[in-house]
Amino acid sequence: MDKDKILVSASILGCDLANIESELNRLESAKADFVHFDVMDGVFVDNISFGLPVLKAAKSKTSLPFDVHLMITDPENYISEFAKSGADIITFHSEATDDIKGCIDLCRQNGCKAGLSIKPDTPAAEVFPYLDLLDMVLVMTVEPGFGGQGFLRFTLEKIRDIRNKADELGLDLDIQVDGGISDKTCCEVKENGANILVAGTYLFRSDDMSKAVESLK
Ligand code: DX5
Ligand code: ZN
Repeated sequence: MDKDKILVSASILGCDLANIESELNRLESAKADFVHFDVMDGVFVDNISFGLPVLKAAKSKTSLPFDVHLMITDPENYISEFAKSGADIITFHSEATDDIKGCIDLCRQNGCKAGLSIKPDTPAAEVFPYLDLLDMVLVMTVEPGFGGQGFLRFTLEKIRDIRNKADELGLDLDIQVDGGISDKTCCEVKENGANILVAGTYLFRSDDMSKAVESLK
């Protein structure tokens, strides 16, 4: 993707799940670029969200692409199934697997883009060896597990380091940020090199979702 174009991925963890179809319609009308689908297993993070059947159901109700964020241990066991259930981009955590390269290969073999994520305390250098193999790096700007948390400013430096490294290597890498993103925090992440902004609470609690999407760009 063009890293100079800002894209918005809407985390449906923050939506009214009992009315997922109308929430997806709302996102389409508001011109969100992706549906961000947070999968939590209660092991890698202290929370359980939703998984394959919900992805399949949601996918059938919208033409928006699905950006699936796997917060699960051993993602290699599930990547193929998430791809088959409708994921367009699959992002897994570096802390969750011993086989990062294998996971990237699985995403590709199943026709998906590949993203690698790091938690706030994981050093930026963890992703450096894989940058040329990846479509996207997701820098968590809160501890993964829950929506509605406060943005962690110390993660800005890592976004900058990853963008600098990608530029040095001549890569048009997407850098996504996730957690506490709003009109108040979006400028700093963009200035430091992020180009795909995930937002849940901010979008779904806004009175005018189109304006909220626009305010992030
Ligand atoms: C947190 C999830 C996020 C979360 C973002 O673990 O990965 O995608 O839904 O929610 P907000 O925008 O409310 O911080
Ligand atoms: Zn997420």
